[in-house]
Amino acid sequence: VRRRDILEKFGDDYVADDRTFKMGIDHRFTECMAERFVGMRVLEACTGGGFTTIALARKAAHVTTVEIDPAIRLQAQANVERAGLLDRVTFVGGDVMSEGILDGYPPIEAAFLDPDWAVAGAGHVYRFRRSNTEPPADALLERTFRLTSHVAIVLPPFVALGELEGLPTHERQELYLGDSHELYCLYFGGLARSVGTTRLRVDRER
Ligand SMILES: C[S@@+](CC[C@H](N)C(=O)[O-])C[C@H]1O[C@@H](n2cnc3c(N)ncnc32)[C@H](O)[C@@H]1O
Repeated sequence: VRRRDILEKFGDDYVADDRTFKMGIDHRFTECMAERFVGMRVLEACTGGGFTTIALARKAAHVTTVEIDPAIRLQAQANVERAGLLDRVTFVGGDVMSEGILDGYPPIEAAFLDPDWAVAGAGHVYRFRRSNTEPPADALLERTFRLTSHVAIVLPPFVALGELEGLPTHERQELYLGDSHELYCLYFGGLARSVGTTRLRVDRER
């Protein structure tokens, strides 16, 4: 990955490989998302290269972040250290879906969920219900609601919106980079600023 692409997407000279670069969310989006978590103790699933962790840690009281892949977790630790935020982040290694994974860690007040939807490679067809992401988006959301009602979840732009029917009341934010619809973020509970669809658009850098 080219240094200048990392600088543009994530705002500093962080470590990333092809996968963590692609999975990582643009810093101008994560900065806006993180505004909703000011002063809270946040659970993040999953860490990836730590790019959302950094934005959250700058605003939240504390972030407990879970990542299954040890090599990816090391990248995130290096990036959080570079950002000077190690004291605000607890890294948990393992499967966020496994029982007891959060036992003994500080209690949380809100959660930020960003499962990996590109996991099956080219030709992968995204499903939210009976989800085929890693971890499964629908099961992760359901499990997180048992911990807190204040939840944000990132979904790909091509999710069939009918699959979201029946979820608790939420704000559905469309995130645009220039004219390109990059992501959705759903906000539940106290993280929602309104009900229904909202749009966040940032300009492409020149
Ligand atoms: C989309 S990435 C997160 C990217 C991050 N939000 C960022 O902006 O840098 C999803 C991560 O989930 C991890 N993962 C997949 N299954 C998991 C599981 N069951 N428990 C914990 N982490 C998991 C993957 O290894 C991957 O790093």
